[in-house]
Amino acid sequence: MARCAALLLLLLAASAAAAAGRKEKAGEKVCDKGWECSGSRFCCNEAISDYFKAYQFEELFAHRNDAQAHAADFWDYQAFITAAALFEPRGFGTTGGKEMGMREVAAFLGHVGAKTSCGYREAPGGETAWGLCYNHELSPSQSYCDDSNELYPCVEGVEYYGRGAIPIYWNQNYGIVGKGIKQDLLNHPELLEQNATLAFEAAIWRWMTPMKRKQPSAHDVFVGNWKPTKNDTLSKRYPGFGATMNVLYGDAICGQGSTDKMNFIISHYQHYLDLMGVGREHSGDNLDCDDQVAFNPSSENADF
Ligand SMILES: *[C@@H]1O[C@H](CO)[C@@H](O)[C@H](O)[C@H]1NC(C)=O
Ligand SMILES: *[C@@H]1O[C@H](CO)[C@@H](O)[C@H](O)[C@H]1NC(C)=O
Repeated sequence: MARCAALLLLLLAASAAAAAGRKEKAGEKVCDKGWECSGSRFCCNEAISDYFKAYQFEELFAHRNDAQAHAADFWDYQAFITAAALFEPRGFGTTGGKEMGMREVAAFLGHVGAKTSCGYREAPGGETAWGLCYNHELSPSQSYCDDSNELYPCVEGVEYYGRGAIPIYWNQNYGIVGKGIKQDLLNHPELLEQNATLAFEAAIWRWMTPMKRKQPSAHDVFVGNWKPTKNDTLSKRYPGFGATMNVLYGDAICGQGSTDKMNFIISHYQHYLDLMGVGREHSGDNLDCDDQVAFNPSSENADF
């Protein structure tokens, strides 16, 4: 009798799965919910555009088209969604449940907002209301050419100052990210200040990609894909938003105590959690990285 009931349950579960458009394949769930995602288990989950709408993007980046903004009319919701869709089959914004998805979008955009902000304490709406104010570094103090890099040598007449949604600096970094998103950024770094979709694509690629083999990505440390080793815990590296700053900026931000620079990034993340209706009380553990040792020494972080 018990076995019979179990079998019935199994059959019910199977038909429910079929009704939801899922197929079982080699033990792994393969889904196709109609959005541009198939063949990945993440496609069973909601897409970012299901839970993060254009009006929310407008609220997060309320002042980006103001007269004072330096990249007015450049950034828009569609560019973010188009770029994000390329990474959803790999789990960007689609890992775990809807709340984790929203938290990851808030975390990623928190970095973007902080790194492209022209906000200051007495600014209208507060200092966190001014993300996506820039799309490139103004009056760079140097051309960010590292002549010693043979793999990605500087192209004559091209400058590698900061550009994009999480700005990229230096020839080698343009080379690496360009290879990642299949664009010739070494010859054409200007693409990141001309095309908002590519600017978001480059930033999400960095979020999803470890700096080095066997290291976690910012995505991994945030969504819980990563389990710290003994070395990590000795270095105070634990999963959470703090470790995303460690992956992306190393000791430029982390292990320096409670600095304004670090707190500026955290406050964008938390402000966006509030605006998205998740609430900053769901920021997660290990929010800061003030005592974390960098995953990579600064010379190897190469000043991204
Ligand atoms: C931006 O780049 C994408 C990807 O290469 C391309 O499809 C799109 O047409 C570009 N947009 C503009 C405005 O050039
Ligand atoms: C742990 O850290 C030590 C000292 O920094 C290093 O020599 C060693 O290679 C690390 N071990 C692993 C597995 O990363």
